[in-house]
Amino acid sequence: MVSTLREPLVAPLRRVRDRLRNSVANGTGGSTSITSLAAVHKGYDLEAPAREAIAHVGTHTQLSYERLVTLYEQVAYVERRGLPGALVECGVWRGGASAMMALANLAEGRARRPLHLFDSFEGMPQPRADLDGPAAMDLMRSASPSSPGVNVASPQEALDLIVGRIGYPESSVTVHKGWFEDTLPLARDRLGPIAVLRIDGDWYESTRTVFEQLYDLVAPGGVVVIDDYGHFEGCRRATDEFLGRHAPDAYLHYIDYTGRYLIKS
Ligand SMILES: C[S@@+](CC[C@H](N)C(=O)[O-])C[C@H]1O[C@@H](n2cnc3c(N)ncnc32)[C@H](O)[C@@H]1O
Repeated sequence: MVSTLREPLVAPLRRVRDRLRNSVANGTGGSTSITSLAAVHKGYDLEAPAREAIAHVGTHTQLSYERLVTLYEQVAYVERRGLPGALVECGVWRGGASAMMALANLAEGRARRPLHLFDSFEGMPQPRADLDGPAAMDLMRSASPSSPGVNVASPQEALDLIVGRIGYPESSVTVHKGWFEDTLPLARDRLGPIAVLRIDGDWYESTRTVFEQLYDLVAPGGVVVIDDYGHFEGCRRATDEFLGRHAPDAYLHYIDYTGRYLIKS
């Protein structure tokens, strides 16, 4: 009886939810670009040092203001709690988000953490039309025939920023160049615990591979960031599938229209 009474109320909510999920992939849902910082102040606890950091990394990242400030705070959080483990990014591109983690560690941590950078450094692999959806296919089509691919960058560019300009010790940084499917199984036994894991590979297979290879290495209390949850439906699907099987109680915290994170229990 109760469920039949509620159904008329719930059905429209579900329709709106599904429509918004599809439409959000076509825009940035109001998240703030870091090209117009002057007037921005959102009230984050560590916004002032995070803004300083953005001035150093902003040209090397696609992350929004919200995702960068939150990333600074996530690293500060694991430092404050004294959690063990490395800082790991899967999907590095030009290194701006990894550099943000390095800067936050330098400013908020007592000791340097291993920083692991995983990327093909050859651009995005082909998405799957059946799993990744139209936003992914459109992005790949937008690459000009003469360009080497989408999101191509060199490991040296990331290292120049992180080691050369920011001053993170070279001995603490490891570049794992290649496809996640190849590099993660080889590296995982040598990584040790992970304090912050950034998953930023956009597509279903890339996201799924990172979850399957690295999630169990994340220390209890560590942070897992999913950069493309709202923007690319394949990323959302891979995340929901994995968490549904392995961490059904995980709560995904909202960062901006696309970014989510969880604290591993
Ligand atoms: C959106 S970019 C990362 C953006 C970056 N984190 C930033 O700060 O702007 C996505 C990256 O993921 C990498 N990538 C995606 N799938 C991959 C895979 N299966 N193996 C290796 N690299 C992958 C691409 O090469 C690309 O550099």
